[in-house]
Amino acid sequence: MTSLAEYLAQLDQLEKQALEQFQRCQTPEEVEQARVQFMGAKRGLVRQMQQRLKEIPGPEKPQAGKRFNQLKQTLQQALEQAQSRVAAKATPKATRPQRARTAGELPPPFDPTAVPPEAQLRLGRLHPITQTMQRMQEVMARLGFQVADGPEVEDPWHNFEALNIPPSHPARDPLDNFYLSVARLTGTGEPDTSGPELLLRSQTSTVQIRVMERQRPPVRVIALGRVYRPDTADATHFPMFHQMEGLYVAPGVTMAQLKTVLKLFASMFFGPQVQVRFRPSFFPFTEPSVEVDMTWKDGWIEMGGAGMVDPHVLQAVGYDPEQVTGFAFGLGVERICMRQFGIDDIRLLYRNDIRFLEQF
Ligand code: PHE
Repeated sequence: MTSLAEYLAQLDQLEKQALEQFQRCQTPEEVEQARVQFMGAKRGLVRQMQQRLKEIPGPEKPQAGKRFNQLKQTLQQALEQAQSRVAAKATPKATRPQRARTAGELPPPFDPTAVPPEAQLRLGRLHPITQTMQRMQEVMARLGFQVADGPEVEDPWHNFEALNIPPSHPARDPLDNFYLSVARLTGTGEPDTSGPELLLRSQTSTVQIRVMERQRPPVRVIALGRVYRPDTADATHFPMFHQMEGLYVAPGVTMAQLKTVLKLFASMFFGPQVQVRFRPSFFPFTEPSVEVDMTWKDGWIEMGGAGMVDPHVLQAVGYDPEQVTGFAFGLGVERICMRQFGIDDIRLLYRNDIRFLEQF
């Protein structure tokens, strides 16, 4: 008979000895030797300890058995570790292609990364405006706004009429818009005004109309894209720029919700400390209308316009202003992008100088 205490002490001793031995192994052969010595199925030391379990008095057998199983598991793990450790060391570098070649079998496997540094392609990146628009889209998607799209060449109905801008309105002045009909000349060299009077859209509010025309309320969309105005280029103006339009129409939409959405948008973009302020303004398609300012560093900067969708606009697309209300806003993408990346001249964005663009 062996006492429990004695048996447990022997197991501890065996465990220590085996772990040390596995640790010391340097080659697969040494690991194999240690395996046979400890874990050999017939005469291994672990097997011998298993047989001696019989000698433990009945009531103490379960405890002894439990410790024995634990030891066996520990040693199995140590063995596997030792095996992979020496295997990793034993694999000489680049054996595969060499062996294949000397054996006259397969050519070396194709390595797509083996391009000499001077021949490597330069990785492109997204334009800062694209990065900003993607981020805007992401933030607005979290607030439940879907992305809508519309054409850049518009007709007067979508760019003006449906937006409550009648033919006499100064916003339709040819000096403030890129009309396409004047670019088409007749045989005599006169402007051809016979076709539809198309123009490059001067605002993304056109997309509001297109969405509402094909969809019943509730509507919750943003539209991101290029708009065109014949401004002379300087540090803050460019004849083409980008806007993000937002539109939410449903029963009971309020101006408080407009401000909340803009505040949430601004804080996700510029951090929680940013503030949003409304100043009274006028747009033909919203009533009341406001300019939207946000705090930046120590001051306020204008980010765009907004307001409650004018009932005339809702009527123009066949909505009932007694049933639904809505808000709309338009933000300048360049303004946000330039703040975000610290760019101080809008023209840099469109010069396509790789040394500039590579920085973002
Ligand atoms: N479309 C206006 C602009 O370009 C901005 C705006 C959008 C204002 C929506 C009110 C509502 O200046």
